[in-house]
Amino acid sequence: MKIRPLTGALGAEILDADLTDPDQFDAIRQAFIDHSVITIRAQSLTPDDHLRFARRWGDINVNRFFAALDTHPEIAIVLKEPDQTGAIGEVWHTDHAYDQEPAMGSILYGIEIPEVGGDTVFCSMAAAYDALSDRFKSLLDGLHAWHSSRHVFGASQSKSDASRTGRVGNADNATQDALHPVVIKHPLSGRPGLFVNPQFTTQIDGLTQPESDAILNMLYDHCQKPEFQCRVRWKTGDVTMWDNRATWHKAINDYHGHRRYMNRITVQGGPLESA
Ligand code: SIN
Repeated sequence: MKIRPLTGALGAEILDADLTDPDQFDAIRQAFIDHSVITIRAQSLTPDDHLRFARRWGDINVNRFFAALDTHPEIAIVLKEPDQTGAIGEVWHTDHAYDQEPAMGSILYGIEIPEVGGDTVFCSMAAAYDALSDRFKSLLDGLHAWHSSRHVFGASQSKSDASRTGRVGNADNATQDALHPVVIKHPLSGRPGLFVNPQFTTQIDGLTQPESDAILNMLYDHCQKPEFQCRVRWKTGDVTMWDNRATWHKAINDYHGHRRYMNRITVQGGPLESA
C-alpha cells in the first residue's frame, strides 16, 4: 500500500489497497488519523463490502434526509443526473453537525464519475484554527454555537432541486438542533480545530445574531484559504473517507449534462469536547 499526501494541510491518496481485506484496516485507520481525508483508489465494492468496511469504524449513523438504496437503507445515494442542476453538498459543511453526537466520518464510493469535473474540496479545521492570532483564539475560547438541520432539510427547502427530484426528502424529520463548542479537541488526534460551518451553524450561543454573524463570517472567509485545502479528483471505483470533526467539504458542481453517482455511509461519532 502506498500513501501519498495531497497537500501540506490535509488529505492523502492510498494506492494498492483493498478495503475488503481486514488485515489492511490498521494502516488505513492510521492514514485517516494522520491526514483527515483519505482517497483509496480503484476499489470494487458491493454495497455489503462498503457496509462491512464502514462497520469496522463504528455504528452507522443513518442519514434521515437523503434517498437510500432500497436494499441497504444505511447507504445514502449522492446523485446528480444530466438534467438536474443542483448537486448534493454544494455548500461548505460537515455532515450531521446538527446531531448531538455528529458523525465521525463519511465514506463516499464513486460509482459513476464524469470525465471531467465533480471534484470534492476539503478544508482542514485544525490548520485554519492554528493560523488565527492568539488574541482571536482567546476570543473564541469557551464559546459554543448552535447547529440545525431545519433551515437546510426542513419544509422551507421542499422546493429545492434536490427535493423536487426525490434525492432529498423527509422534511418533517428536520428537527435537530445541537450546541457544540466552537473550538473542539479532536477526539482522535487531540488537536484543537474549529467546529462551525457555513451550512448548518446558525448562531453562536449568547451573542446577538449580528455579533454572531460577524464572527462566523470572518471565520468562514478565513477557513476558505487555499492553504488549508485539498481537492480530490475522482475516478470510478475511488472511495474517499473524511473526518467530519476535522474538516469541511464541498461538492464542485461543474459537470452539467453528465451523471455523477456515489454511495455514502456515515459513521457515528461521539460528544464533542472543548479544546
Ligand atoms: C457530500 O456532501 O457528502 C457529498 C460530497 C460530494 O458529492 O462530493
